[in-house]
Amino acid sequence: MKTQVCIVGGGPSGLMLAQLLHLKGIDTIVLERQSREYVLGRIRAGVLEHGFAALMREAQCGERMDREGQIHDGFFVADGATMHRVDLHKYSGGSSVMVYGQTELTRDLYEARDRMKGQVIHNAEDVTLHDLTSNHPSVTFRAGDEIIRVECDYVIGADGFHGVSRKSIPKTVLREYEKLYPFGWLGVLSRTPPVSPELIYARHERGFALCSLRSNVLSRYYIQVPLTDAVEDWNDDAFWTELKRRLPDEVAARMVTGPSIEKSIAPLRSFVAEPMRYGNLFLAGDSAHIVPPTGARGLNTAASDIQYLYHAMVAHYQRGDDSGLEGYSAKALARVWKAQRFSWWLTTLLHRFPDQSDYDRRLQDSELAYLFSSEAAQRSLAENYVGLPY
Ligand code: APR
Ligand code: PHB
Repeated sequence: MKTQVCIVGGGPSGLMLAQLLHLKGIDTIVLERQSREYVLGRIRAGVLEHGFAALMREAQCGERMDREGQIHDGFFVADGATMHRVDLHKYSGGSSVMVYGQTELTRDLYEARDRMKGQVIHNAEDVTLHDLTSNHPSVTFRAGDEIIRVECDYVIGADGFHGVSRKSIPKTVLREYEKLYPFGWLGVLSRTPPVSPELIYARHERGFALCSLRSNVLSRYYIQVPLTDAVEDWNDDAFWTELKRRLPDEVAARMVTGPSIEKSIAPLRSFVAEPMRYGNLFLAGDSAHIVPPTGARGLNTAASDIQYLYHAMVAHYQRGDDSGLEGYSAKALARVWKAQRFSWWLTTLLHRFPDQSDYDRRLQDSELAYLFSSEAAQRSLAENYVGLPY
């Protein structure tokens, strides 16, 4: 097979780039290891920054998002019994975020690929990248007994944290930076009306909790749990009881509970791989960087990679201008590290750390007190949460 850009990974990053490039007449093939049902079965975060929503519209995939997504102008931070509201709109100069689930967004991207007859190959096994530093890179994969080779100009590694692309960069070239947090998030999706129309990030001495939502009838809640906990340790009753204990009384009192539709534990990790380019391979999204979910930066940071790559590819194919491709890694990493900083800061501020001293706890108290007494601090939080400029 031949194409201009071979994209490894059919998650939001890979699909979005394929869609944008196709609209500019650039040919792509997406290779995805899993089935479409599997990809669409994953429940992930649901807060989109303005730049991401704009990119969805540019990709002609924004219609349902604009119809069903919710604009949020603020969120709450609960601290024990107290609730503070962060006014995103006021402190970000009129910006807001869109609450729309990643699963829905991925479904929209797949439907757009179908409409445009884009090539997305599922169940592509043993994907292997070849000759990345030559002018003729290729990617092979196995479909049943057959090995198929895709010849291309460029390979995009959009295959997530566990993908093959990053691992194809020699160890002498790649530097990896990682921070593991000593806890995870237990998440529950339930068909119940959300406890609050705006998200609540709760700091509590028993651990962090988050109240989020997917719609007016679908709630998404999380609690911080030790890494040693398994999903089986938490039946629905135990989950609801613990969630309510970590919220202010008046919030807990109006919580509507119900059976969980999905329940999973995710460890919290910060990770960056540098550089994001090796020869004619470009990494994008989770294949190059991971953040803990606290600041809702994961998908949004993938989106800036895609935006930079999209413009760089268009400049290359339409004008023979390679400056965007040359500058991609440095430009993407500059924004990636700012998202790392913000996610680390919010995670550190709101979680209970097992080795936390009384001193550390008092510092958290004072950081929060400062935040809610200072417009400058709230501005800083708001500008990061709605998304730094591309
Ligand atoms: N070959 C082909 N496809 C692969 C391989 C492989 N060896 N390894 C992984 N994949 C696929 C996965 O099955 C997945 O569908 O690559 C896709 C990567 O998708 P994501 O993990 O969703 O990563 P990305 O598209 O960069 O999206 C970033 O999604 O994971 C969240 O927090 C993340 O919100 C962020 C966003
Ligand atoms: C979610 O809705 O899943 C969600 C929202 C905000 C976050 C993390 C997850 O910071």
